[in-house]
Amino acid sequence: MTLSTFSDPAALDAALARVRGTERIAFVPTMGNLHEGHLALVRRARELANQVVVSIFVNPLQFGQGEDFDGYPRTLEADTRLLAAEGVDSLFTPSVTAMYPKPQAQQTRVEVPGLSDILCGASRPGHFAGVATVVCKLFNLVRPDVALFGQKDYQQLLVIRRMVDDLAMPLEIVGVPTVREADGLAMSSRNGYLTEAERARAPALYRVLLDTAAQLKASGDVFELERAACSAIDAAGLRTDYLAIRRQQDLQPSQPGDRALVILAAAWLGQARLIDNLEVVR
Ligand code: PAF
Repeated sequence: MTLSTFSDPAALDAALARVRGTERIAFVPTMGNLHEGHLALVRRARELANQVVVSIFVNPLQFGQGEDFDGYPRTLEADTRLLAAEGVDSLFTPSVTAMYPKPQAQQTRVEVPGLSDILCGASRPGHFAGVATVVCKLFNLVRPDVALFGQKDYQQLLVIRRMVDDLAMPLEIVGVPTVREADGLAMSSRNGYLTEAERARAPALYRVLLDTAAQLKASGDVFELERAACSAIDAAGLRTDYLAIRRQQDLQPSQPGDRALVILAAAWLGQARLIDNLEVVR
């Protein structure tokens, strides 16, 4: 099979109409600048379905003022080659006007309260409404049976699961484990913003998560562990945005007796805002 690329939603719909109902469609939404983390999603998609659709769309709605929308890496040619080599069937590359014909202020938005205004949502107001809105629209255009998202964006995955559940969207959501560089740094398109010296410091974030997880399992005090972990991140030359130990199910602060926890962190390093997380069951 060769990769077919569609920028027009109607053309994508016509192509998918030929297989819908007889073949299972898996969908991987991305913003492009693909790396091994994205390719892991594509490979899992291939295991789950016989039609794999990938979208590349840098979504203006999920970037705040002063964030990196303009500078976000756009590498469509290289991305297309990678997806063709993976045997992806369809690549959807809509334009901003195809996705949002009206001015942004008039655009209907999908809000997922409770999950969207904490952690990354507190630092990036409106971000998760932007994510939920674009993902909802992409789901309506592609109408997949299953969609895949990386667990590196843990909060995003929960927001999307909650949206799908609350709105009874007829598809399955699959989370795929974080892919890491050899030194532990979680793969991310934003790692490309790091200078050589910053890149050498970046794995400290994951090391702090590993240390904190080990102490949490040994029943360390949550508040004290959070405080020590923030200091360790700062001491490694990053600037902590947040580090929080939360319940896996809803990202609320853990209560005594909660066993399924997740440590989530975000930290600035030069131009890059790095995020990472680690699940802990104690
Ligand atoms: O994770 C991303 O790359 C984006 O947030 C997504 C899910 C493609 C929505 O724009």
